[in-house]
Amino acid sequence: MTTSTRIVATAYGEPTTVLGQVEEELPPPGPGQVTVQVQAVGVNPIDLARVTGRMGADESKLPLALGFEASGVITAVGDGVDREVGDEVIAYSVLGAYASALNADDSKIHDKPADLDFERAAGLLLVGETAADAVATANVSAGDIVLVHGGSGAVGSVVVQLAVKAGATVIATGSSANQSFISGLGALPVTYGPGLLDRVVAAAPGVITSTIDAVGTDEAIDTSLSLHSADKIVSIAAFGRGGDGIKLVDGSSAESKAHRAQAIPDLIASAASGELVTEIASTYPLADAAKALTELGGSHPRGKIILIP
Ligand SMILES: NC(=O)c1ccc[n+]([C@@H]2O[C@H](COP(=O)([O-])OP(=O)(O)OC[C@H]3O[C@@H](n4cnc5c(N)ncnc54)[C@H](OP(=O)(O)O)[C@@H]3O)[C@@H](O)[C@H]2O)c1
Repeated sequence: MTTSTRIVATAYGEPTTVLGQVEEELPPPGPGQVTVQVQAVGVNPIDLARVTGRMGADESKLPLALGFEASGVITAVGDGVDREVGDEVIAYSVLGAYASALNADDSKIHDKPADLDFERAAGLLLVGETAADAVATANVSAGDIVLVHGGSGAVGSVVVQLAVKAGATVIATGSSANQSFISGLGALPVTYGPGLLDRVVAAAPGVITSTIDAVGTDEAIDTSLSLHSADKIVSIAAFGRGGDGIKLVDGSSAESKAHRAQAIPDLIASAASGELVTEIASTYPLADAAKALTELGGSHPRGKIILIP
C-alpha cells in the first residue's frame, strides 16, 4: 500500500478557508492502471473556479478532489500495462492531481522526456492542448494575420507560438510589463486597455483574418467584432458572449477532444526540445495549495504555478 496526501475542498468558498489535507491508503493499481509518485502538480484557473463554486456548488460532490495534471515516477504497474517502475511520466487529465501519489489509467499516462523537468511537465498539457485546440479551431495557416488576446498568459503564450509556427503574423495583447516577452515569442505586442482597437489596427501589417481570445473580457471580444465577423473569433474564456456568434472551445465537443488528443505528442516533444517556451511563475509545497490558488486568483506573475508534494 502507498500512502497519499491529498488536498481537497471540504466546502465551496475561498481556498484559504475550505481546503483541507487528507491521508489515504492507495490500493495497488488495478488492471490497466499505474501508481505515480507525484513530483509536481500543475495549478490551473479551473481548479480555483471549482473550489469557489463558480462551476457549481453541489454539496454531494464534497469533499472535492482537485487538480487535473501532474508529473512523477511510476511506482507500481497494474496488469496489462506496458510500463516499468521508475518510468518518468505525465498524468493528464486525472481528477485529483493535488496529491503525493495517485492511481491513473494508462490511457492518461504520457512519457516524460528526460529533457523536460518535472515542474514544466506538470504545467504543460492543460494549457498546451487548450492552445492547440484554439489554433486548430481557428484554422490558422500561413499568410493569416491573427490577433491573440492574452498573448502573455499561460494559454495565450502557447497560442502565439503555435500560430507563429503555422506561418501566421500574430498581434498579441498583454500588460506593458510583458510586451518584450510577447515580442520574444515572435508576435507584434500591443497593450490591452482603452484604445485597444486603434493600437491593434496600427500594429497590423494588413487585414486581421481571425482572433483567438484567451482573456474573455468584453473589451477583447468587442475589439475583435470591430475587426471581422464573429465566426472568426475563437475564445477559450468569453463564455458569456456565445450569443454573439463567436466560437467557444472547452474540450467538450468531439472536434475539440480530437484536437486536444492529437496535440499532446508534439507539445511534449517541443517543450522538451526547448522549441516551445513555457515558464514557471512560482512553486509552493502541496500543503500550501490554498496560497497557490489565492496567488492564481490575483494579478500573478507570468507563467505556471506549480505544487511540489
Ligand atoms: N476553455 C478552456 O478549455 C480553458 C482552458 C484553460 C484556461 N481557460 C481559461 O482561459 C483564461 C486564461 O487562462 P491562463 O491560464 O492563460 O491565465 P493567465 O496565465 O492568468 O493569463 C491571463 C492573460 O490575460 C491577460 N490579462 C489580464 N488582465 C487583463 C485585462 N484586464 N484585459 C486583457 N487581458 C488581461 C494577462 O496579461 P498580463 O499577464 O500581461 O497582464 C494574460 O495574458 C482563463 O479564463 C481560464 O479559465 C480555458
